[in-house]
Amino acid sequence: MMRVGFTQGIQRVGARSFATNRVWRSEGETHFGFREVPKTIKEDLVREVFSSVAKSYDVMNDVMSFGIHRLWKDHFVSKLDPGRRPGGEPLSILDVAGGTGDIAFKMLDWATEIHNDHQSKVLVVDINNDMLKEGEKRSLSTPYAGTRASFLQQNAEILDKVPDSSQDLYTVAFGIRNFTNIDAALRSAYRVLKPGGVFACLEFSKVDNAVLDTIYEQYSFNVIPLMGQLIAADHDSYQYLVESIARFPSQDKFAQMIRDAGFDMTGAGYENLTFGVAAIHIGQKL
Ligand SMILES: C[S@@+](CC[C@H](N)C(=O)[O-])C[C@H]1O[C@@H](n2cnc3c(N)ncnc32)[C@H](O)[C@@H]1O
Repeated sequence: MMRVGFTQGIQRVGARSFATNRVWRSEGETHFGFREVPKTIKEDLVREVFSSVAKSYDVMNDVMSFGIHRLWKDHFVSKLDPGRRPGGEPLSILDVAGGTGDIAFKMLDWATEIHNDHQSKVLVVDINNDMLKEGEKRSLSTPYAGTRASFLQQNAEILDKVPDSSQDLYTVAFGIRNFTNIDAALRSAYRVLKPGGVFACLEFSKVDNAVLDTIYEQYSFNVIPLMGQLIAADHDSYQYLVESIARFPSQDKFAQMIRDAGFDMTGAGYENLTFGVAAIHIGQKL
């Protein structure tokens, strides 16, 4: 397992129905799941989805992924191996689209338990205040509330409240596919990282086995929205979530987008998890 240690180195808009799969789009449009919508409203639609799912988000993640998202997240954190090294400075970490704080708390636990680091900090950034509120609530049952974990509402594409070259590590887990302008977010990530800083993304990706891909697609489109309906009384948000996964670029294409933002990547630049259901992409600002 490779580790990245820090010493080394249109349908009617607003109608929540998603039947149309239109592939062409005009310049002022982008995709929201399978719908083409004006770029100016995607942010609001995404906000609406996550406000709607915020309270059930953690439970639904476990149910939909049979708990596998926890294994992926644990692997992501262990691969990054965050924590202050002997003689080194504590780390400044940005967890973007951090939502309810899963990755942030796992990174702080890792730094504390593995590196005996009680100083490194994580700033959780998210566009959605309802998700952040859930995260802040959760932080109260951790040792990090008000000290090592803080929360900021901000669009990842802008990040103007985060100074240039200020961060050692930028993480984004299951968030980037929701952004309106992924390239802008990657450029912001590059800007806020220190030279030597690491960009790390965990995101749903493309399954690399045809049989599994068919089963996965059936499960995604037939079961997940139904579970959303039954468990969270919210079919449409979960329909959007599976559509947004289907629309996200392939591993190789996304790796190229990261390179285009200026990052250096070793090898292919990514690791597939569970046959590519999810993938980790890592880049470094040289
Ligand atoms: C699926 S959740 C992931 C939360 C968390 N990272 C996790 O792994 O459990 C996606 C998050 O991305 C956030 N998000 C979507 N668009 C965003 C943007 N443009 N800037 C910042 N956060 C955004 C949503 O509000 C939501 O909290």
